[in-house]
Amino acid sequence: MSAGRRSGLPAADPAAGAPAIIEARGVGKRFDGVRALSGVDCVVRAGEVTAVLGDNGAGKSTLIGLLSGMHAPDSGELVVDGEVTRFASPRDARARGIATVHQDLALAPLMPVWRNFFLGAEPTRRGLLRAAECRRVAVAELARFGIELRDPDQPVGTLSGGERQCVAIARAAYFGARALILDEPTAALGVHQSGIVLRQIVRARERGLGVVLITHNPAHAYAVGDRFVLLRRGETFAHRLRDEVTPEELAKLMAGGAELDELYREVSELRADRAGRMAP
Ligand SMILES: Nc1ncnc2c1ncn2[C@@H]1O[C@H](COP(=O)(O)OP(=O)(O)O)[C@@H](O)[C@H]1O
Ligand SMILES: [Mg+2]
Repeated sequence: MSAGRRSGLPAADPAAGAPAIIEARGVGKRFDGVRALSGVDCVVRAGEVTAVLGDNGAGKSTLIGLLSGMHAPDSGELVVDGEVTRFASPRDARARGIATVHQDLALAPLMPVWRNFFLGAEPTRRGLLRAAECRRVAVAELARFGIELRDPDQPVGTLSGGERQCVAIARAAYFGARALILDEPTAALGVHQSGIVLRQIVRARERGLGVVLITHNPAHAYAVGDRFVLLRRGETFAHRLRDEVTPEELAKLMAGGAELDELYREVSELRADRAGRMAP
């Protein structure tokens, strides 16, 4: 595949067992003439987690926008189930089983957990909401992801940050997602809450979903990732499979390796300089 070689993807992908659900091939996107993304490759397979790593401004949100049908790429192509595809809208992407959980989670904090789980798609009979069934389904589906809900009537805003993220993920899975795109789900969370979300990502993978985990945290990426796509200034500067990389290498790649070494050197020179001036 020429698209793969162009950005340094291994020509023969040793992990290429499961079918690709969605693939970005050399995608690019400009906003008002500013290049946000260029020549980016990214594949999402059933039963795998693709971690997309990058610093602020690297192009992570733009890539999500393309995969989720919010923006159309200016160059390159999206391939869904082996077919070149142009999404007309996020709804169009969802209909193909590509669901995105954005950072705001699209939850109504004051509404009960079960209403948030269905949010406009509640089952009805003769125009009447089947509330008991909704509660039962919400409790059962969250339990499948390891969340023991004390009370389905509690407002979703009273759940912990990790649990709220889990409601959004379980909801997408229940409504037919095959690929789940998660935009920095652990960015605002502490260690314990991040663990709740990372465990849920593992469960989603075990259920055969393909997951895209967007993050700038290499430890979180390594905890669950099967493959890693590293973005910098809108380009993929590295692709790694899990057994090709250690957590330390991933952290170093993410930190910008040489750039960080340069920074350390500058700072230590400044410190030595100041120490010299302060010496009697
Ligand atoms: N809607 C937009 N209009 C103009 N520039 C944008 C827009 N979205 C993103 N950009 C630019 O594209 C680059 C990548 O941004 P983004 O995808 O948000 O990065 P990340 O999510 O990794 O922080 C940045 O330089 C940003 O300023
Ligand atoms: Mg972003």
